[in-house]
Amino acid sequence: MGHKISLSTIFVAIGLTFSMSVAMAADEAKADAKEAPAAEAKADAKEAPAAGGDARASMLANTCAGCHGTNGVSTGPAIPTIAGLGEETFTDAMNAYKDKDGGKNGTIMGRIAAGYSDEDIEAMAGFFAKQKFVPAKQEIDTAKAEAGKKLHEKNCKKCHEDGGASDVDGSSILAGQWKPYLNYTLKDVLSGDRTVGKKMLKKVKAVHGDGGDDAIAALVEYYASQQK
Ligand code: HEC
Ligand code: HEC
Repeated sequence: MGHKISLSTIFVAIGLTFSMSVAMAADEAKADAKEAPAAEAKADAKEAPAAGGDARASMLANTCAGCHGTNGVSTGPAIPTIAGLGEETFTDAMNAYKDKDGGKNGTIMGRIAAGYSDEDIEAMAGFFAKQKFVPAKQEIDTAKAEAGKKLHEKNCKKCHEDGGASDVDGSSILAGQWKPYLNYTLKDVLSGDRTVGKKMLKKVKAVHGDGGDDAIAALVEYYASQQK
């Protein structure tokens, strides 16, 4: 008798454990299923009219979030924020990464960009252009930023208007961008690893020739200090 009871107890226990783990797995699956559409719905809600193309664009753009942050607002200092980039800037950048001789030797982006068609890039360009650029919060050395402001006004302002916040003619957004990213980008410009227009190259070289790495760092400090 005692034997039977303990056996059925074991069976009940096994049954319980089994149904519990099934229930837990089901819960997890539900949680997963709940998370994904919620994230998408949020992305959709931020976009203007939710046309069919937009859902696809936000789905494509989701694959960039692991590095560039949600909707392109980067939280990692070596990775640029791409939210709010003009469509021209975005498309030019992606095509330059795709093309081996495109003048942009991205550490990672070459391989990533290669996986997207012109249509994909166009769709993502539209998506990111609609997102809000959120300036990165960074510690600022005000004296250094002040020195950078003077260099900016003399050498860079003509093309990087509005303290580097305006992205006209594909000049990109410098204001509020991450310092480490801007620093290595300008080093790549100086070393020739990144091709930019002749006029800009001349100015960056002039600044570096006069003031060295400190002058470049001052410019970067100034752009980072621009929080509009
Ligand atoms: C594994 C990390 C990673 C992923 C994933 C990633 N990126 Fe990037 N991205 C970078 C890094 C790092 C840079 C800086 C350039 C470099 O070193 O390649 C960059 C630069 C860029 C730039 C240039 C910005 C500028 O101002 O020049 C664009 C545009 C861009 N990425 C778009 C995308 C898009 C679109 C996706 C998704 C399809 C994506 N990235 C996915 C890491 C990533
Ligand atoms: C004649 C116009 C012009 C001048 C002057 C100029 N730039 Fe640019 N800059 C551009 C354009 C256009 C781009 C986009 C080109 C590209 O990345 O291929 C650019 C891109 C950049 C980028 C890369 C941004 C990114 O995330 O991709 C940085 C950093 C930059 N400029 C800094 C400067 C600094 C600092 C100066 C002054 C010393 C300067 N520029 C002067 C036109 C100019």
